[in-house]
Amino acid sequence: MKTLTSASAAIILALPAFATDITTIDVAESDEFGHYLTDNLGRPVYVFSTDTPASDDAQAQISCITSACRDAWALVTTTGDPQAGEGVDPALLGMTQVNAQTFVTYEGWPLYYAVHNKGAEMPHDSRVEAFGGEWTLVAADMQADHGDIEAGQTLYAAQCAQCHGRTGRGMASFPSITGQDADYISDMLMRYRAGETIGSNTALMRPVAAELSDTDIADLAAYISAEFQ
Ligand code: HEC
Repeated sequence: MKTLTSASAAIILALPAFATDITTIDVAESDEFGHYLTDNLGRPVYVFSTDTPASDDAQAQISCITSACRDAWALVTTTGDPQAGEGVDPALLGMTQVNAQTFVTYEGWPLYYAVHNKGAEMPHDSRVEAFGGEWTLVAADMQADHGDIEAGQTLYAAQCAQCHGRTGRGMASFPSITGQDADYISDMLMRYRAGETIGSNTALMRPVAAELSDTDIADLAAYISAEFQ
């Protein structure tokens, strides 16, 4: 496990204090960006692809530690348990502590403000390439898009491959599920799970979908969209 050196910890402590209270994570909406997460003042929040998200037994690792990076992106701090606003799943919020500072995490990822987004403004971009990684505006339904590919693979082999084939190409009345994005796959699985009749062979697919949890669907959608091209 990578740990923060005392030098990088000291740099983090010198970050501008953006929040002095308990932070609430809320959802905002725009035509351009859909639903995205903000702090209680409406400032959009981002995650950085080169950070390491927290896991069950390790804190998140922060990779934005140069002064240039800190000038552009500020971690969202809190003094106590972050609160979930309407539409935010409280189970996805967490905290990572580095010395005296506590940062808010979402699905384990440290959250940042874009410093140029002063006040409660619209995000400038949903995706920014900078400082050796990608900054992504956090979609409020991020969970659905970020399934666990490995878990999806295991589930697929056990429950889906016998009909749709090992590579998703299908056969006879079992349709091919290749070349689809994660949203399409999860949408279809949710519709079957909800009992909707889609094609003439819905009866074969519906009982399988009925057993899937939201997490199963996200994991399957991540695996199928990534591997079956
Ligand atoms: C018993 C065979 C069977 C199993 C097992 C099965 N499916 Fe299906 N699946 C079907 C059939 C048949 C259809 C088409 C149903 C219809 O006519 O609406 C289908 C449709 C689908 C579709 C929609 C395809 C499209 O583009 O219309 C997706 C996505 C899908 N299945 C994914 C899965 C996943 C993921 C699993 C494993 C959890 C799975 N299926 C397990 C038989 C199966």
